[in-house]
Amino acid sequence: MRGTEFRELGHRVVDVLASHLGDPPDPVLPALSPSAACALFDPDFPEAGADDVEAVLLDAVQRVIGAATKLHHPGFIGHQVATPLPAAAICDFVDALLNNGMAIFEMGKAGTAIERAVLTWLAAQLGLPSSSSGVLTSGGSLGNLTALLAARQAKGFDPWQRGVRGQPLVVFVTDTAHYSVARAVHILGLGDEGCVAVDVDERLRLDVRALEAAVQKALKQKKKPIAVVASAGSTAAGAWDPLNGVADVCARHGLWFHVDGAHGAPLALLPERAEQVLGLARADSVVVDFHKMLLMPALVTAVLFRDAKAGAAAFAQQAGYLFDDDDDGWTDVGRRTVECTKKMLGFKVWACLQAYGVAFFRDHVRACCDKTLVLANLISAHDELELLVPPQTNILCFRLKGRSGGENAAVRKAIVDDGTVYCVQVHLHARGLPKERSGLWLRTTLLNPRTSESHLRAFVDDVVARARQL
Ligand SMILES: Cc1ncc(COP(=O)(O)O)c(C=O)c1O
Repeated sequence: MRGTEFRELGHRVVDVLASHLGDPPDPVLPALSPSAACALFDPDFPEAGADDVEAVLLDAVQRVIGAATKLHHPGFIGHQVATPLPAAAICDFVDALLNNGMAIFEMGKAGTAIERAVLTWLAAQLGLPSSSSGVLTSGGSLGNLTALLAARQAKGFDPWQRGVRGQPLVVFVTDTAHYSVARAVHILGLGDEGCVAVDVDERLRLDVRALEAAVQKALKQKKKPIAVVASAGSTAAGAWDPLNGVADVCARHGLWFHVDGAHGAPLALLPERAEQVLGLARADSVVVDFHKMLLMPALVTAVLFRDAKAGAAAFAQQAGYLFDDDDDGWTDVGRRTVECTKKMLGFKVWACLQAYGVAFFRDHVRACCDKTLVLANLISAHDELELLVPPQTNILCFRLKGRSGGENAAVRKAIVDDGTVYCVQVHLHARGLPKERSGLWLRTTLLNPRTSESHLRAFVDDVVARARQL
C-alpha cells in the first residue's frame, strides 16, 4: 500500500468509525447466533488479492462494526469492559503500526520508558512506596497469574529452582473473586486443596475472622499458606474486601498480600474514598486494569509489586540470545513477565493522561460510582425490586423481589433481545452467602460515560414492566 492509499483508507476508516460513534444504533448486543456469526466471517480466502483493496477493507470494517457489541451505546451497562476513549484507540492504531515488540529495551525503547512512567504514576496513586515497580501485562488474568507467581516464589521455597514438589501450598480467596485467581492457583500446580474459599460477610466482602480461622485450620493441617487474594472490588458483586483487615492477617502469618484491583483499584484516585481504600498501600502486589474503569481499549493491566525484586524473582531465567546480563532489572521488560513480544501497552495510557490530565480520569471514576448510586436508589425505591448489597464500587446486582431464578433471566433476555440495553446476570453461590441470597441476580456495571440518569430510569421502568408481563 502506497502512502497516498494508506492516507486515504485511514481517513475513510476514521469517517466510518466517527459515524458509528456519533449514534451507535440498536441493538447494543447483535442478535447473532454462533453459526450466523461464522457465516459472516467465512474462511474462503481468495488466492489472489482484490482489485479494489480499499473497498474490501472498508467492507470488512463495516461488517465487523455490524457484528460488534456496541460499547459506545448508552445502553451498554453489562460486563466490565471500558467504553474506550477514541483518542486511546488512535494510540493503539499507532502502536500497531510501529509494532515495537518490547521484551527488550533495545527493541522497544519508547515503550519501555513509557511503561515505567505509567507504573510510577500508578504506584504513587495507590500509595505504594517509591521503591515499588512492576510490569504491564495483557489483561488482569495474566496480571493475577504474574502476581501469584511472585507470591509463590517469595513464600514457596524457591519453586523456580526446585519445583513445587508436592508442597501443600495454599492461597485464600473468596468465591466472588474473578475466576482467574483460582485458575492461576491451579496453573501454579497447587490443586483444588491449594485454593481455599473464605466466607463472605453480609455485604459479600471477605470475612476477616473467617480468613483468620481458615489460615489457622490450614496450619493445623500442616499445610503451607502462602498468600491471600483480596478483591477491590469483586467481579461477581463489586464488593470491596476489607483490605486493612486482610493485611493484618497476612502480616501476622507472614503471607503475601495480593490485591486484585483489576476492576476497582481506580477508586484510589478519589480522595473521598480514602477510608474505603485503606490497606491497599500495604499490598505486596496489586493488579489494575486500565481497560475497565479507566476508559482504555483492551488490554492494558498494571501489576505492581511493593518490592520490585520480588516481582522479577518469579522469572529468574537466563536467555542469552535476548537478555543482557548487565541489564539493571527494569530495562528489559521481558525479564518480569510471561510475555515476550508484547504491544506497547502503556502508550495509550500515557498519551491520554498527558492530553486529558489526571482530573479527567478522576472525574470519570467518580461519575461511575455516582451513577451506580443513582441506579441503586432507583432500585431501592421500587417495591418490586431488591438490591443484593448497597454499592461499594460501580458494579450493582439486583433482582425481582423475592425471585431468585428464571424470571430474572427471562426479563434480561427480553430486554437484551429488544436491543436498547445490554445488562448481564450472575449465578451467585459463595461460601458464607445465605441460601436465600444465592441464585440468579441481574448484574450491571456503570462505566459508560454515555449512560445518563434518564437511561437508568428507563431501564428500571423497563425491568418492572417486563416482570409484570411474565
Ligand atoms: C476483579 C477482576 N480481576 C481480573 C479480571 C480479569 O481481567 P481480564 O479480563 O483483563 O483478564 C476481571 C475481569 O472481569 C476482574 O473483574
